[in-house]
Amino acid sequence: MYVNNKKKACEYCNIHSEEYTFDENVKEEALLELIDCLNASKSIHGILVQLPLPKHIDEKKIINAISEKKDVDAFTPANVGKIMIGDYDFLPCTPAGVMELIKESGIDVKGKECVVVGRSNIVGKPQAMLLLHSHGTVTICHSKTENLKEVTKRADILVVAIGKAKFITADMVKKGAVVIDVGMDRDEEGKLCGDVDFESVKGVAGAITPVPGGVGPMTIAMLMKNTIKAAAL
Ligand code: GUN
Repeated sequence: MYVNNKKKACEYCNIHSEEYTFDENVKEEALLELIDCLNASKSIHGILVQLPLPKHIDEKKIINAISEKKDVDAFTPANVGKIMIGDYDFLPCTPAGVMELIKESGIDVKGKECVVVGRSNIVGKPQAMLLLHSHGTVTICHSKTENLKEVTKRADILVVAIGKAKFITADMVKKGAVVIDVGMDRDEEGKLCGDVDFESVKGVAGAITPVPGGVGPMTIAMLMKNTIKAAAL
């Protein structure tokens, strides 16, 4: 679903895209060889390795092989480091999409209590950094956080990316809070849903993003933005 949506967005933007699919038993060398070839290509400006990779593949090694100038996901150590110091070419797509939603909704992050639930390299950690760059007071929570509800209830802006269906319930949210749901989960009936129990939380939140149709399309829009930027580097 992710890959198809990315391909459709490329078509919409008139960006040429190529998809390489492999058998799940693929050897690491084959992936590295392809990345080397794409790194050297004059006609390819962006490279994206859709995660997760099969267990036998060293994900770090594969990501590290991507040229930092073509790293449109901003996953390589060089680009992650640049995000830390606030001097970057590419922003990671999902956290950048979240920031764009906040900005376009007229919400000022400055001085606000921002709570990020989840500490992944793809979302939680870079999200916290972007909120910090916007002068938020940032807390990162995760599966080992004690009294999670007490922390989430302090949030003026709550970003949830833990991958647990409908995990955040109304009693965990402050009245009027901005709630941004990065989750892509399945409920008991197999229906797509987020990490936030939308039906109960919408009565408490001042603003809330739905799943699907919230952060997901923003992630893809940011990927297009990074790709166009990469072409100009
Ligand atoms: N898997 C889940 N989210 C993402 C993403 O944003 N980029 C890539 N490459 N893989 C993912």
